Formats: sequence, structure tokens, C-alpha cells
Amino acid sequence: MTNQKKLRSAAWFDTPEYYGFSRKAWLRSEGLGSHIFHGKPVIGICNSWSELNNCNLHLRQVAEAVKRGVWVGGGVPLEFPTISLGEMFLRPTSMLLRNLMAMDVEESIRANPLDGVVLLCGCDKTTPAQLMGAISAGIPAILVPGGPMLGGLWRNQKLGAGTDGRRLFDQYRRGELGPREWSEIEGAIARSAGHCAVMGTASTMACVVEAMGMTLPGCAAIPAVDSRRYEIAERSGMRIVEMVKEDLTPSRILTRQAIENGVTAMMALGGSTNAVVHLLAIARRAGVALQLDDFDVISRRTPTLANVKPSGEYLMEDFFAAGGVPALLMRIRELLNGDCLTVNGKTLAQNLEAAACWNEEIIRPLDRPLSQQGAIAVLRGNLCPDGAVIKQSAASPALLRHRGPAYVFENYEHMREQIDSPDLPVDEKTVLVMKNCGPKGAPGFPEWGHIPIPKRLLERGVQDVVRISDARMSGTSFGTIVLHVAPESAVGGPLAAVRTGDEVTLDVESRLLQLEISNDELEARLAQFVPPPPHYQRGYGKLFLDHVTQAHLGCDFDFL
Ligand code: FES
Repeated sequence: MTNQKKLRSAAWFDTPEYYGFSRKAWLRSEGLGSHIFHGKPVIGICNSWSELNNCNLHLRQVAEAVKRGVWVGGGVPLEFPTISLGEMFLRPTSMLLRNLMAMDVEESIRANPLDGVVLLCGCDKTTPAQLMGAISAGIPAILVPGGPMLGGLWRNQKLGAGTDGRRLFDQYRRGELGPREWSEIEGAIARSAGHCAVMGTASTMACVVEAMGMTLPGCAAIPAVDSRRYEIAERSGMRIVEMVKEDLTPSRILTRQAIENGVTAMMALGGSTNAVVHLLAIARRAGVALQLDDFDVISRRTPTLANVKPSGEYLMEDFFAAGGVPALLMRIRELLNGDCLTVNGKTLAQNLEAAACWNEEIIRPLDRPLSQQGAIAVLRGNLCPDGAVIKQSAASPALLRHRGPAYVFENYEHMREQIDSPDLPVDEKTVLVMKNCGPKGAPGFPEWGHIPIPKRLLERGVQDVVRISDARMSGTSFGTIVLHVAPESAVGGPLAAVRTGDEVTLDVESRLLQLEISNDELEARLAQFVPPPPHYQRGYGKLFLDHVTQAHLGCDFDFL
């Protein structure tokens, strides 16, 4: 380590006073020998393993592979836990806790004798939370996402957790599947550790992080239980030791150009709308002034190429077999900035030299895209002055231009009470509007935006209607669904003024979301707006309500 910058961990161990001695003594109590303090980088393995998060359940084993790599590379691995955010269990929503996890990660790194960190993530919020925390902590970092679970298998059908679950649930609600079938599906759809097997938020974020250069090439899509997941974890452990020597921090990798590469990849992947919020927050942590409208500019020039559910037909394991993220990035090479540095010390362009696509049906060529534009469009209009998003790649083409009367649910509970009512006064032209589901209103910005199709319409064979809310939606969902309306209704955004019977226009081609009432009428209604009482008076919930930013700013805390 001569001629190298002094190790950060030396400030803990290489000091003459008493605590230098006692810190070494306490670490030796773990059975580590005194030789480890002589110039070896200390590598934290930040693990979001939890039995409350099935998607990350295998990360203990992944951590063992990382440790092997760190030892081989000449470092000293020390694994530590943080809170973990399991999408399926957390109430009211894991998004309420993303910033808390980011703070946990940041402070755990900052407070400990670490020279570099390997971040083990998987389920939706764990990837952005770890990256946000690591950016702010500012030491060399590399991500090892846990990879997608195996595809579900039921009665000779392949099923993608999330997407196919929702589709089959509608069949169950229509009575086309009975309790026996439904129980079998419950046991077959999620049959291994790993995150959801479609291009939901977890897969999108893992792939986007790879495109931004924060994982080793080819890492994101390797299935969770594939032996190559453990091999790349080991190589990531070896590499972080070198990154410490090179002082290769996230700020050197996550430039504006790298983050734009991430947005471009997200569009070509048919990625999740949630990635918009996370990328806005990640960019702000990295000091990059990414705007919501940047997503639309990039979407207009980027074709959707990944034929993966919910935008397409296949699963993440098929995407991996077709070549994964490197193959996709190779396809859109001219839309990317190839000079961006990545964690392996090479540029993106250098990494893509070895990329190949093995299945042109799953990763489409440019002349045969799934759609000419990217997955997500950003809408503007009097209903969303600060923007809204729609996943156009997973919407019904016939509804992308639509005008119809609103039916308004005042909140999520109101929607749940009414949605299956046989008397609900809706038809296929109705625009379902749901209020009070945003960052402050719900609270926490939950994935409630996939308002179910009303039962009376399902029974008539209606598969999709236009739905609008200030909520998010699971990346595994599909339909003509407008999300992230900002400002949200709970802070007096125009959504709060919509009444049942108002006409609403959605025109995705023109990027328009308009409430068809006069400006005077809109202002008069908003003048009568009374904010709902706050959900929390104390604790983390109050911190969240006091400081969370709106969707178009990434929902990070204003002081971070
Ligand atoms: Fe964890 Fe889908 S529930 S990724």
C-alpha cells in the first residue's frame, strides 16, 4: 500500500492511543489475527438479508461468496446487517421506509472502519436505498443484486410472479379458477429465493444499476439460484479491494452521462415506473440535476427492446439466457455514452465489446422493437402541473387517447369498499380517479395505483379502463394507468378538485392529462381545499411527512 492514499480504516486501528489497541482487541475477539491490520482494506458487506424479505433470503450465501473474493483480493471482509424492506409484508408500504434504509446504510458505513463496501440487495426498495446511502457515504462501493427468482411453474405454464398473479386473480374473481387451482398457483408462482421474475421494479433497478456501471458487467439478470450468481459475487469481492486502492467512489461513476445511460436502459427494458422516482432520488444524491422531463426526452428516442413481462412475453431467466443487460446495451449502443467509467475500471464501451445477443425474440433488434418509444411517458396538463407518468408499453393501445367521465374514489379505502359493487355507475369509457395515495396522503406513496377493474366491467369482458391516481404501481402491473400525479391531492394538487362526472382527457401522444373544466372553476374548487389530518404526530412517520419531497423530485428527504 505504499504510494497509496492512507486507508480510512487506519483512523480506527492505526492509532497510538488506547482505543487503537482496544478496537484491534475487540476485532480479534472475532478470531481475526493481528496481521489483518497491516495495510489490508476493510470491506463492509452490507447485507439486506431477512426472513421478512423472501426476495433477499439467499443473500447470506451470496455474502459468503463475496467474502471469499475479498480474502482472495487481499482485503478483510466484515458483514453487517441493515434494515431490509420486503415488498410483500411492509405496511403501509415499503416506500415509506426507503429513505430510512438509505440513512441506515449511509450511517452504518460512515460510522464504521470501512474502506469499501459491497451492497447486497434485491427486493424493490433495497437496491435504491443501498445505492442512495452509499453515494452519500462516499467510499468505494459495488452492488451485487440477488437476481431474479425462478419462473413459476403451474400445470405446464410458466408464470411470472406479480404480473401473472394479477392476471390469474382477475380470472379467479370472474370464477374461471376455483379454490383448488388458486391454492396450487399460490404454491407454484414464487418457487425460489430471488426478486420477482418479471421486469418489475427489482429487475429494473438491478439492470439500471448495471447500466450505470455500479455492478460488474452481466451481474443483474443472473437468476438468484444460478451458480454464476455466486461466482460474480466472488469476483465483486475481489474487485472492491482493487477499487479501494483506486479510490473508485460512486461519485466518479455516477456522472450525469452514466445516469442518463441508466434512464435509457430503463426505457429499452420496458422498465418499472418506480425506477423514475428512484433514479430522481439517486441522481440528486449524486449531485446530478436530473429532471422528470429528461425521462420523456430519452423515452422518445429509445425503443423498447426487452420482450419481458409485463411489457412483453418472457421472464427474467429468459432475458438472462438471451444475453442479459450487456446484450440489451449493445443493441442501444449509439444511444449511450460509452465513455462512462464502471466499477471494473473499464468504460461501458469496453465492457460491451464482448456482448452478444443469443435470442432476438427476447432482446429485439432495433428494426423490430416491441415499441418505437421507451416504456414510460411523462404527462403534463392542468391535472398534473408537476407531471405524471404512464407506462405506455404496458397500456392498452386503444386507450392511450381517451376522453371520458371521471368516477372518483376519495381514497384507497373508498375504492376497496366500492370496486366490486354491482351498482358501481361505471362503463368502459369511465376514467377511474383515486385521491390521497401520494407520498403524504397515503402515507408513503404506496403501490395502490393499479386500481382493479370493477367487477361489473370484468363480468362484461372489459380488460382495461383508464385509471389515474397520485399513487405508484408495482412494476409487475399492467394497464392504462396514470401514476405519480404531482402535486399530490393531499397537499392541494389539482387531483383534489376532480369530481365524479368531470370529463378527463388522456392523450399520451401529446403527453396531455387534462381535467376539462375552466381554470376559474378549478381555482374555485382548490380554494376550498382542506388538507386531510396528518397520519403521524411522532417518530419516523412524522419525519417522513415533514420532509419527503414530491414524486417529481424523487421522494427523498429535503435535508438529504
Ligand atoms: Fe420483492 Fe417483487 S416482492 S421483488
